[in-house]
Amino acid sequence: MHENTITDPFSLIKPELNSISERIREGIVSEIPALHKAAGYFFQRGSEGKRLRPSICLLMGSALSAEPPSDVEVCTPDLRHVSIVPTEERRRQQRIAEIAELIHVASLLHDDVIDDAESRRGKPALNLVLGNKVAILAGDFLLARASMTLASLQNTAVVTLMSQILEDLVSGEVIQATAAEHDLSTMDLYLRKTYLKTASLMANASKATAVLVGASSPTCEAAYHYGKQLGLAFQVWRQNDHRPGRCPENWQADSSVVWSAAGRR
Ligand code: FPP
Ligand code: MG
Repeated sequence: MHENTITDPFSLIKPELNSISERIREGIVSEIPALHKAAGYFFQRGSEGKRLRPSICLLMGSALSAEPPSDVEVCTPDLRHVSIVPTEERRRQQRIAEIAELIHVASLLHDDVIDDAESRRGKPALNLVLGNKVAILAGDFLLARASMTLASLQNTAVVTLMSQILEDLVSGEVIQATAAEHDLSTMDLYLRKTYLKTASLMANASKATAVLVGASSPTCEAAYHYGKQLGLAFQVWRQNDHRPGRCPENWQADSSVVWSAAGRR
């Protein structure tokens, strides 16, 4: 008899995720002690969060690669300097995963200043520990290091996709900061803001992974839509779960909402 088992997707990439965290830690070293401390704050072991965004990139990469990663070598932290362009396909996918996580954490550092947050990932928010100025600048530093890794890939289409994420994050945050409360609870604006703040990163990083492996145009678009739908679903679920009042008409995170969201931007 067959047992119906669902594979935990994170278990497929756990060693690689750890090697990515290790490489990020190596890549955000600064000789300025305050900057070093601030930039590494959310990358300390145990403070890394779910690492959902790099997981999406790695799993998308596995799905699109002719040769799924199986060897130990790929899971060994690659600590070469970012200016050395890795030739091996999986290393390049790992770089996109790193960049996605760096952008995400940078946006959280800025967001916590905007929101005057007190805690994040089970510890005091960085703005509380080191002040707003250092928290903002640490976010900028992470973006600078992400840009260097991006440049090392030498792929302008991928640069465009990853830059779009930055624009979308800022746009989404400005919509949230400036729109009237009742406008934000309309479906159109809620979905637009959610795409910009959450789904764009997953969509464009997922597509960038596909572009990087030379996937066909329809496959790249499919990767984009996968990331987008996952991002919208994730945020609707998260807000229903944690902050029910912040979804329009208290939506339930059912598939119809996500599918209707998938066709919009
Ligand atoms: C969390 O929102 C915040 C984001 C998903 C993005 C924030 C984006 C910016 C501050 C724009 C600047 C971007 C960069 C790349 C520097 P939330 O407050 O709804 O959720 P939370 O409960 O996790 O704080
Ligand atoms: Mg916030």
